[in-house]
Amino acid sequence: MTRVGILTLSDRGAAGEYEDRSGPVIQEMVVQRLGAEVAEYAVVPDEFNRIRDTLISWADQRQLDLILTTGGTGFAPRDVTPEATKAVLNREAPGLIFAMLRDSLAATPHAMLSRAAAGLRGRTLIVNLPGSPKAVRENLESILPTLPHALELLREAPEAETGHTFKG
Ligand code: MTE
Repeated sequence: MTRVGILTLSDRGAAGEYEDRSGPVIQEMVVQRLGAEVAEYAVVPDEFNRIRDTLISWADQRQLDLILTTGGTGFAPRDVTPEATKAVLNREAPGLIFAMLRDSLAATPHAMLSRAAAGLRGRTLIVNLPGSPKAVRENLESILPTLPHALELLREAPEAETGHTFKG
């Protein structure tokens, strides 16, 4: 079963001043649509070190298949999620960002204000989503149909890497 980590980045959420409404949207979508299990869930303030350390621990120790973050991707001075994410990635996956931007720009020009990153750390796929529940739903909708294939490729044994064939 696909093991997912949900990381909500919000100063006010972490302080208990705000209820996290975006994490539950991710939870609902990955459980219902991917048949995934939420193995880790945390609300962390917009602090580079805290975000980086959580991502490293979930990828390296917990060996999660997929980490979805929400929040902290915009232009506010404390929005550092993409920087903390890029600091832990071995390989970037800009195609996922492109797909989300393509669809989101059709919904709102504000989509161009997300600086989200996506990529791989070992066999863990990490994707940044914007903060609002609406944005989470719209962005996740863009990549969800392709995620099973992405996760399947990540689980391949090294010797199987050249044997990837298109079965469309
Ligand atoms: N993408 C979609 N699909 N729908 C949205 O409503 N909101 C945008 C953008 N992406 C939005 C979206 C807005 S208003 C901002 S500021 C950026 O995401 C960054 O959001 P964040 O700072 O909460 O991460």
